[in-house]
Amino acid sequence: MTLDVCKRLDAQDPLAALRDLFILPEGVIYLDGNSLGVLPKAAPARIAEVVAKEWGEGLIRSWNSASWIDLPQRLGDKVARLIGAAPGEVVCTDGTSVNLYKVLFAALSQMKAGGRRVMISERSNFPTDLYIAESLCRERGFTLKLIDADELPAALTDEVAVLMLTHVNYRTGAMHDMKALTAAAHAAGALTVWDLAHSAGAVPVALNDSEADFAIGCGYKYLNGGPGAPAFVWVHARHASRFEQPLSGWFGHAAPFEFSPHYRPAPGVARYLCGTQPILALSALECGLDTVLAAEPFDGNRGSMAALRDKSLALTDAFIALVEERCPGRFTLVTPREHARRGSQVCLALSDKGPGAYAIVQALIARGVIGDFRAGDAQMPDILRFGLTPLYLGFEDVWNAVEHLVQVLEREEWKRPEFNQKLAVT
Ligand SMILES: Cc1ncc(COP(=O)(O)O)c(C=O)c1O
Repeated sequence: MTLDVCKRLDAQDPLAALRDLFILPEGVIYLDGNSLGVLPKAAPARIAEVVAKEWGEGLIRSWNSASWIDLPQRLGDKVARLIGAAPGEVVCTDGTSVNLYKVLFAALSQMKAGGRRVMISERSNFPTDLYIAESLCRERGFTLKLIDADELPAALTDEVAVLMLTHVNYRTGAMHDMKALTAAAHAAGALTVWDLAHSAGAVPVALNDSEADFAIGCGYKYLNGGPGAPAFVWVHARHASRFEQPLSGWFGHAAPFEFSPHYRPAPGVARYLCGTQPILALSALECGLDTVLAAEPFDGNRGSMAALRDKSLALTDAFIALVEERCPGRFTLVTPREHARRGSQVCLALSDKGPGAYAIVQALIARGVIGDFRAGDAQMPDILRFGLTPLYLGFEDVWNAVEHLVQVLEREEWKRPEFNQKLAVT
């Protein structure tokens, strides 16, 4: 892998022109689209239009005339194309943690009658998922058991009501086999809840084909919806009109403008809406979704996300190969090498297990190479995390990012005091 090879790969890349859909600051190599996606070029003008025209001129009429009322469903249909769901099965609304609360509550309520009292999840799941599950289990009389990934199938006993997993692990980039784990959970009589925060817009997802039960995911990562963008909820059609969620606000009512004093849930996934929707944020999210859907014409008949996945794997392969070749012995690869088990990020730990992971990331950021750091604990090492987003990254970017990493290490830049001061957000 040389710079020339990288340049040739970029010249042959069918997705290369999609970078023009984004505003990327000059001199920045952005390897953090797994945390906050890049600003779509269309977003500033669209938001200005929604503010000036739809809000400024249309005022309250825009709920009808600009179809604000349909935004959660319209955007949900766009998300559905990326996650193997059907139109009408997804809504975009609220935040990831809040949506997780709703679907976990619905799943636990359903299972309570059967006497099952355990929810299982992965020990290294994202903390908000574990915190939400922990408080809900306490409130509803369940026990949350945390298991290591390789012990999950064996942990699916007849006590288990719900298996809650994040499809692609935020810290390692390891991807679960959704279909196999869902089948194992169902065989054990449990329901599945999937967090797609690091999957939607990053890897192909096949919710209906996997027979999954519930899924939620993030709008501001690979979907480029902007900081704190609304999240999404999917519920399998066999459950959508059966289960109720706890935040029974009027937007999830069957007829909100009847103003009835009693709650009657809307049919289908619309019941997972709660209150008045954030129209400006949804409008920005739509611009982000359109950037991901712009890759669809390159998929041919191979299924959604095929072209983005090809490039994502090629970029992560190139990054891994270059780090191993040019920084020999310095890093241990935490992300699985096997394509079927890898998301769209590469995570490294320091081989000598010494300090410095945070400072190396900070020194890279000072050079314009933006990745991030995730602190370890007694069981897990500190992680240098690099998200590789095929919509706006090329192979030359990967080469340059690794060149900066080599220089940060050779010149021991990371030892400088300013790179060793922990900021509030890492
Ligand atoms: C797997 C996962 N779930 C949830 C979240 C965040 O949830 P929220 O959008 O509610 O902050 C993250 C954030 O990085 C995440 O990685």
